[in-house]
Amino acid sequence: MIVLNLKTYERSLDKALYFVDVASEVVEESGMRIVLCPPSIYLKDAAERFSEIFAQHCDASLPGQHTGDLPPEALKKIKVKGSILNHSEKKLSLEVVKQVSDRLHATALESLICAANLQEADAVAHFAPTYIAIEPPELIGTGVSVSNAKPELITESVKQIKHINEKIVAICGAGVSNKEDVRKALELGSEGVLLASAFVNSEDPKKFLQELVSVF
Ligand code: G3P
Repeated sequence: MIVLNLKTYERSLDKALYFVDVASEVVEESGMRIVLCPPSIYLKDAAERFSEIFAQHCDASLPGQHTGDLPPEALKKIKVKGSILNHSEKKLSLEVVKQVSDRLHATALESLICAANLQEADAVAHFAPTYIAIEPPELIGTGVSVSNAKPELITESVKQIKHINEKIVAICGAGVSNKEDVRKALELGSEGVLLASAFVNSEDPKKFLQELVSVF
């Protein structure tokens, strides 16, 4: 699978929806599983035109007296399919990661938990998330791919995650910039990639995505 995190790179609804349409078209022509994570303000519009929309973060709170929170029920209501949790740019304690992932699963939503290192991957694998993305924070946004800079982190984390729970889909991210980075990640045992800057900054996002998809 390919997970595209738009972060807050794009501030207009039109541009966010342009990326949604690009992902949707590439899915249609390839059958590839592509998940797109827009900023929370655009989730509803995005989910109305593409079925594989994840939030970039959500909260464990039940609907009620919680200012500014985004509970899983709210995501479910607007047909969002899941959420990233514990991204290194939106770090949570392990206790909270467990609470939110439990709440996502109780709401029949998928969880994609980010782990910065092997130790964290080991800890979050016990929460039985749908996906774990191993992402060394120091490589994020650098254009230097985790698959080239830290190949052993991918092999070891995939091994460790599958040892704990073979149902978890193990992917990797940080600095993934081209199809060679993706090919290397897959060769190392990763089942997909999570990326942001190379996609949003690409001159031709559709062509870029088609190239990544061709590796699978
Ligand atoms: O969530 C994806 C991410 O943190 C990787 O970012 O820009 O290195 O692809 P980037």
